[in-house]
Order: sequence, then structure tokens, then C-alpha cells
Amino acid sequence: MTQPLIDPFARAISYLRVSVTDRCDFRCVYCMSENMTFLPKKELLSLEELDRLCSSFIGLGVKKLRITGGEPLVRRDIMTFFQSMTRHLDSGALEELTVTTNGSQLEKYAAQLAAAGVKRINVSLDTLDEQKFADITRWGRLPQVIRGIDAAQKAGMRVKINTVALAGFNEDELFTLTDWCASRDMDITFIEVMPMGDIGNEDRITQYWSLENLRARLAERTTLTDLPESTGGPARYVRLDDTQQKIGFITPLSHNFCESCNRVRVTCTGEIYTCLGQEGHSDLRGPLRSSESDAHLEDAIRAAIALKPKGHDFDYSRQKADGKVSRHMSHTGG
Ligand code: GTP
Ligand code: 5AD
Ligand code: SF4
Repeated sequence: MTQPLIDPFARAISYLRVSVTDRCDFRCVYCMSENMTFLPKKELLSLEELDRLCSSFIGLGVKKLRITGGEPLVRRDIMTFFQSMTRHLDSGALEELTVTTNGSQLEKYAAQLAAAGVKRINVSLDTLDEQKFADITRWGRLPQVIRGIDAAQKAGMRVKINTVALAGFNEDELFTLTDWCASRDMDITFIEVMPMGDIGNEDRITQYWSLENLRARLAERTTLTDLPESTGGPARYVRLDDTQQKIGFITPLSHNFCESCNRVRVTCTGEIYTCLGQEGHSDLRGPLRSSESDAHLEDAIRAAIALKPKGHDFDYSRQKADGKVSRHMSHTGG
């Protein structure tokens, strides 16, 4: 029997996040600078190589596969890749195939995603105000994203909204956002903004809004009950007594969750990052291309996981020195 993937801190790796493109049709101000340089297309793993890579991880015990970007749904022919992963769901080797998206292409792809076996998707949405949405994404259009969410729900997928908590930006929309999600039977997860990549300014320090504070504000209106359940990701959940809605908190800064980390990331060029908040990575594209044999690739995956660090060391007080990771979130897919 194949040995499971276990890292040096006895954590089993069962969750793979694969970024299929570094490109995005938005430029969220906390994520990218306005003038991002993207990789030449020839650098990217082909869809066949992505299939082989993901299949190797699944053979090694990965149960949850999340497709990310950039914006994953802007990659040409990406539905072919989703359709090719369906076989792992059908065989039972993979338990969940899912995607994190900005929603801009969902209207077009929701039905195909659902047909490929995607049951649950996460959609990034930081505001319900059209002008603020255009400002934070630099040029995104909110109605297009809402039509995408409508299409996803109509196709039978569960939608979770991801909202980056930003002081001075969406603090005043806390209840508007949670009530809107409740009215549409969607969960919502708030995320603390992480110091990743040069965005051309240091707004993230002043925009950091601790989720401890956000949680306290929710608790002023209704009782919060901690839930034991997990989606296998970093979020911890509570239920609101008034609407019975589930709210998630992703708190890399105020409450580090690294000890229960179960995941690794692969970039669109085939680099494996075993921690979002560290620079260390290894190459899988070389082993993927140098041999037809999967054994060589599997050895490279195991060797990378043997180097997985204990956790990130994001720290706003050291933001300009070593408390910040130089690559952008879009490089590793969040
Ligand atoms: P669920 O399956 O719904 O639990 O999703 P998820 O939270 O695993 O994935 P999603 O792509 O929605 O990620 C939400 C946020 O969590 C993004 O901002 C990610 O960057 C962040 N995130 C995910 N995993 C990690 C992690 O290991 N460390 C840190 N610091 N952040 C993470
Ligand atoms: N800090 C926290 N979350 C971020 N995202 C992008 N950049 C950052 C950052 N610096 C979020 C997006 C999306 C998810 C994949 O990551 O809003 O929901
Ligand atoms: Fe694109 Fe997501 Fe980054 Fe926004 S946060 S620019 S939608 S990758």
C-alpha cells in the first residue's frame, strides 16, 4: 500500500491547491499592483501535465483538490481539465473537487463545473456596493459576479463567499454582507489581509482589521456558537443564533492555525510551495518533464513535503523587513 504524505511535524497532507494561471481579469488592490507582469504562456504547465501532477497527488492520498489562480476560470480550455478530474471523484479516490473564483466567468461555466462534479465553490466578494467593488478590483463589475453566483446556485452548487476584512473599507458593511448571504442561503468566511507581494503601497498595514474585533461586533447583535466542523481548510466556524447562518474566520495573523495544516500548493509553473507564508519551494516541473515514470515525480513530491516548515511568520510589525512574503498571493493561489 502507498505510504500517505506525512510532513516532518506529523501532519497528513490531504488537500492540494493548484493554481492553473497567474493571470486575473481583476486587480484587487490588496492582491496585485496595477501593472502586474504575468508569466509568458509557454512557462505554464499544460493541461495534460496538470492532470498528471494532480493524479499523482491523488494517488498519494490527496482527497481534496482546489483549483485556484489568479483567476482559474480565465485559463483557456480549463473545463477540459475539470472534466478530466471527474474520473477521480467517480472512482472515490478524490472526495472533493472545488474552485476559488472571483465569479466573473461563472455565468458561463457554472453548469459545466456542476456537471464535472463540483458541489461547492468559494467566490471572493469584498463589498456589495457597485462603486466600491469597481474600486477594490480596479475595474470589476459587481452585477456580472452576482449573475455568476446566481448561475452557480441554479446549477445546484453551494456557494461560500470569501470576504477580506479591510478596515475603513468594508467595516460598515459587516451586517449587510452577512444578511445578504443569509438571505441567499450562503455561508461567508472573513479573511485577515496577509502581507504578500509588493502592491505598490503599504495600505495593507492600515487596512488590517483583526477578526477578533469583527467577531466581537457580530456578538453584539446575536449569540455566536462555535462549531466543531471544518471544511478541511483553515477556517473556523460559528453559527449565528438569529439567522442560523454559518460564518467562517481565517485568522493567519491574530490566531495562527498552522499546527493543523493539511495542505500544499502547486503553482501554474509546477513549483510546490509547502507553506503559503514562506518562500521555500521545490520544482516539480523538471521531474514531471524528465521522465514518463510517475515514481520519479512521486519521489520529488515526497522530498518537497519532507521540507514543509512548521508555519508562516507573517507579522505586520516587521512588514518592511522579514515579516512579509515577496511573491503575490496570485502566484500561489491563496
Ligand atoms: P474551504 O474548503 O471552504 O475551507 O476553503 P479554503 O479556505 O481552504 O480555501 P479558499 O481558497 O477559499 O481560501 C480562503 C483564504 O484562506 C485565502 O485567502 C487563502 O489564502 C487562505 N488560506 C488557505 N489556506 C491557507 C493557509 O494554509 N495559510 C494561510 N495563511 N492562509 C490560507
Ligand atoms: N490577504 C488575504 N487574502 C487575500 N486574497 C488575495 N490576496 C490576499 C491577501 N493579501 C484572497 C482573495 C480570495 C482568496 C483566494 O485570497 O480575496 O478570496
Ligand atoms: Fe484576482 Fe483574486 Fe487577486 Fe482579486 S484577489 S486580483 S480576483 S486573484
